[in-house]
Amino acid sequence: MNILVTGGAGYIGSHTVIKLIEAGHTPVVVDNLCNSSAESLRRVAQITGVTPPFYQQDVRDTAALEAVFAKHAIDAVIHFAGLKAVGESTEKPLLYYQTNLDSTFTLLEVMRTFNVKTLVFSSSATVYGSEPAPYSEDSPIGRGITNPYGRTKYFIEEMLRDIASSDGSLAITSLRYFNPIGAHPSGLIGENPNGVPNNLMPYITQVAVGKRAELGVFGDDYDTVDGTGVRDYIHVDDLAEGHVAALTHSQTGYCAINLGSGEGTSVLQLVHAFEEASGAKVPYKIHPRRPGDVAVSYAKIARAADVLQWRTTRTIEDACRDSWRWQSGNPEGYK
Ligand code: NAD
Ligand code: UFG
Repeated sequence: MNILVTGGAGYIGSHTVIKLIEAGHTPVVVDNLCNSSAESLRRVAQITGVTPPFYQQDVRDTAALEAVFAKHAIDAVIHFAGLKAVGESTEKPLLYYQTNLDSTFTLLEVMRTFNVKTLVFSSSATVYGSEPAPYSEDSPIGRGITNPYGRTKYFIEEMLRDIASSDGSLAITSLRYFNPIGAHPSGLIGENPNGVPNNLMPYITQVAVGKRAELGVFGDDYDTVDGTGVRDYIHVDDLAEGHVAALTHSQTGYCAINLGSGEGTSVLQLVHAFEEASGAKVPYKIHPRRPGDVAVSYAKIARAADVLQWRTTRTIEDACRDSWRWQSGNPEGYK
């Protein structure tokens, strides 16, 4: 199938493009490179031997997006494009609402024009807000979300549900990602954050490679195994394969599915697993809790197993080793 991949030059998108190619699909990438580099796609070509068609344009540009649909006979869409920095979304909420919502509106309109029925959307565990973990897809969403970024995911999910119920021929899947880490085992592509990383794993790898002096651990007084926050870390290649499964098993209607491992790992457990896998040291210091953080987040994973016939196959150790291979081989990312 010809799959439009919005945001396909980004971290999760580039790994998914590889899995799509390996599964025999033809990915077509649209990305404005606001948080990525075309180098990721050159490396996808190096890994797969296939150069995916790439259009550097904004998803909100209707005419340009129509031209891509007209040229490539798109069969289905995976929609990764969007802004994702939680802290920045609190400072610039309008930018987040405009970018994440408008891009989805434009995409849905162009899909309607070209009669494309299948959409896989990048949602997030953040939609569960203040619900107690583990999160099931039947848990309420939208309550206690602490930032505009998270609300864009919630609003888009609600909109997609309405749109799917208005037209029974649509097949829309929202994949609620838990915490993606790791990199392609080649070490050629990986997470490439701009500036100071917001997320734990890229911070750990930048400390390990000597770019930053020490990790700040946000809180050691949570009610968890060692007092530090617990998350459900998922290897980005498992996540990428979840998208291929979502296309394969896509059914009409609206379906939200957790993509996680079902296991919780604390900040310090991840630090120690990383040190073990890499042989590098990660000095750290305890800081106050980060505002907006929940103590524990992990997934119930039965629906992914039932509907997608998918579950994670890679371990935290695999993810640590692959993150380190990427970071140590590319200390400056794609630069
Ligand atoms: P990323 O920033 O690496 O990838 C997003 C890509 O979208 C980037 O390449 C960026 O240039 C592009 N983009 C942004 N706005 C665009 C626009 N208007 N038009 C065209 N391209 C645009 O992020 P990622 O980690 O790969 O995340 C992909 C998706 O998954 C995002 O929607 C994100 O919110 C969601 N998600 C990520 C995480 C995570 O922890 N990484 C967790 C849950 C959900
Ligand atoms: N943490 C630290 N130090 C750091 C960074 C993070 O101790 O420098 C801790 C956090 O307090 C938390 C854990 O590491 O306990 C994970 O933090 P991340 O920022 O890596 O991930 P979050 O779970 O906070 O958020 C991520 C994405 C969001 C997404 C959410 C749910 O950043 O976009 O997962 O999917 F919404």
